[in-house]
Amino acid sequence: MVFEAHEQVLSILYWGRDIEVLGDPGDLKSAVTKSVSNSSTDEPLTPGIMREHSRSFLGHPTLSGHRGGKAWSTQFSLVDYSHQGNTLIAQLHDEAAALHLEISYHLTDEGILKINAILTNKGEADYSVDQFVYWLPLADRAREILDFTGRWSHERHPQRRPIVSGLSSREIREGRTGHDYTIAQIAMTSSTNFSGGEAWALSMAWSGNSVHHVERLADGVQSIGAGELLMPGEIILAPGTSYQIPGVVANYSDTGLDGLSHNYHSWLRARPHHPTNVRPRPLTLNVWEAVYFAHDEETIKKIADAAAEIGVERMVLDDGWFHDRRHDRAGLGDWVVDPAVWPNGLGSIIKYINDKGIEFGLWFEGEMVNPDSDLYRAHPEWILHEADRVPPLWRNQLVLDISHPGAYEHVLGQVDAVLSEYNIAYIKWDHNRGLNDAGHLGQASIHNQTAAIYRLFAELKRRHPKLEIESCASGGARVDLGIVDVVDRFWTSDNNDALERQTIQRWTGIAIPPEMLGTHIGPTHGHQTARTHEISFRAINAIFGHAGIEWNVTEANDEERVILKKWAALYKAKRGMLHSGRAVRVDHPDANAFLYGVVAQDQSEALFAYVQHRMNESNFPAMALIPGLDPRATYEVKVVGDVGKPRALQVKNPPWLKGVRLSGAALASIGVRPPILAPENAILISATRVD
Ligand code: DGJ
Repeated sequence: MVFEAHEQVLSILYWGRDIEVLGDPGDLKSAVTKSVSNSSTDEPLTPGIMREHSRSFLGHPTLSGHRGGKAWSTQFSLVDYSHQGNTLIAQLHDEAAALHLEISYHLTDEGILKINAILTNKGEADYSVDQFVYWLPLADRAREILDFTGRWSHERHPQRRPIVSGLSSREIREGRTGHDYTIAQIAMTSSTNFSGGEAWALSMAWSGNSVHHVERLADGVQSIGAGELLMPGEIILAPGTSYQIPGVVANYSDTGLDGLSHNYHSWLRARPHHPTNVRPRPLTLNVWEAVYFAHDEETIKKIADAAAEIGVERMVLDDGWFHDRRHDRAGLGDWVVDPAVWPNGLGSIIKYINDKGIEFGLWFEGEMVNPDSDLYRAHPEWILHEADRVPPLWRNQLVLDISHPGAYEHVLGQVDAVLSEYNIAYIKWDHNRGLNDAGHLGQASIHNQTAAIYRLFAELKRRHPKLEIESCASGGARVDLGIVDVVDRFWTSDNNDALERQTIQRWTGIAIPPEMLGTHIGPTHGHQTARTHEISFRAINAIFGHAGIEWNVTEANDEERVILKKWAALYKAKRGMLHSGRAVRVDHPDANAFLYGVVAQDQSEALFAYVQHRMNESNFPAMALIPGLDPRATYEVKVVGDVGKPRALQVKNPPWLKGVRLSGAALASIGVRPPILAPENAILISATRVD
């Protein structure tokens, strides 16, 4: 990044590829300055990072707000800055508007740029913030936008389109991150793909409402921006108070989309509390799809027996354990064990599970309340609402206003009591509805609600230092770079169909490393899509993440149990590599197949999946390249049999499946010929260095 501070205006002259030697900074300014065109301001514009009308900037501004209709136009001046290592902290002040902004830019060692700001009202009357958007300049050669959309069970599907004149925006107004949230807004050249080309990405580090923009003005200037989306009157700063503006995370790559992922993954993995820095990711079994609300100790014990035989390391009791929760119409809000289904409390089932060497995990949805609950009967005023309306029900529930101290303490107290009484290693924390009409005492409260859940998670972890938290929201509706700091795992999607998961996991993995993404082997006949898949296909899909099982394994036949056992052992043997290596997605020439994998950081080995989604376009599948290995080293390459056999449409296998020795260079440029697989089948390919 190159900043300029000139006549008290702070500008970003450049953001992109690392430039080791810049030359004369003044000459850079001269090189990028535009001519004065006809019908324009008399001098070239320097709108600075605040993009203000008062400096003749006519695009989307950084700050919008007013003080009772006044101070609607600002002119911030840079009054001070400090610069240490890769961090710049700038102080900007507007005397007339009586506002002060502190903004910091921090470039991490992994190439991630974090931007945060605080706006303070220095005036004597309230100041209403309408919006604050962080902006970064985009190179002219960025011509396309890639972002993500989706819905329940269909999260993070890509959409790629040209950058056109005007503002291209993605808004989230549902008060949680959302199934259609674009985990990153990516601008790129027309030729950028997984393995090459430039990409500039920006993401909110926030789980509430958000907006992501790409702007191209009539003069050709392009920018990428993101900010918290505020409801009217949501942030009104009393004199002397501040708005801690949710921050953004920016990322640049000149090695394609895989380069972006490499930066995100390395940055997250460098955090001391990153889950793999604490311990390997335990093989997990969640009983949700096995029993749903039909909790019964004997059934759970039988599942635990089968789980232990397979080698499961953590077992999770999902929704249905607490007061009156026999279905989804009652109970949310009352976080006490229901003696009707657990007459002995949870102690005996936890002991049974722990005695088998398996940890225990439990489900909560603490930000919610059913009207049919003791909590709601006692405190109907503790819901997010406006006027005297009750918001429309969604999955029969309302949103508890945890920005209300009483409600916050209630949830914290009850959850803490359960965690203190029992040996619980992990909680799955759900959030199954959007926030409609989400007011607190007459003021929109989505910002405060979001800040409150971050606080609550941090407090639970402070009280229970070894506790792990999974962020779930009807599947993957709360996966973002804000909550990532207070949770250890994401439930990627409610859709456990291995075919659907290919796309969902591929694109969630653009920013989130695989060790944080829950990927489970679902039932033979998928509950969401009713498709039937070979166990090998489901097992290969699930190994590329924080692996688990979401299937009543007591129903698995003997052959399937043997495969599950081998697969579990394979996961344990390879998770160190899978959860630290470099994620690679190959730009495969046939759109009917996906080819992807993980290469060990020391290039000693790799695991790749070749996944046949639909029938090949031609008789023989296109060669499967295995890039990213040491070009000069020799690798033993073979198909891994521990996941069971795929269904194939051929008389004879290609001979290499049993093992061949090829160089990293040959694997990257020639590859191996996949067998002719039936659609919705896959093979797992291993490459192991032998010299
Ligand atoms: C939605 C989650 O995504 C599921 O995994 C499950 O926990 C249910 N909620 C429970 O109600």
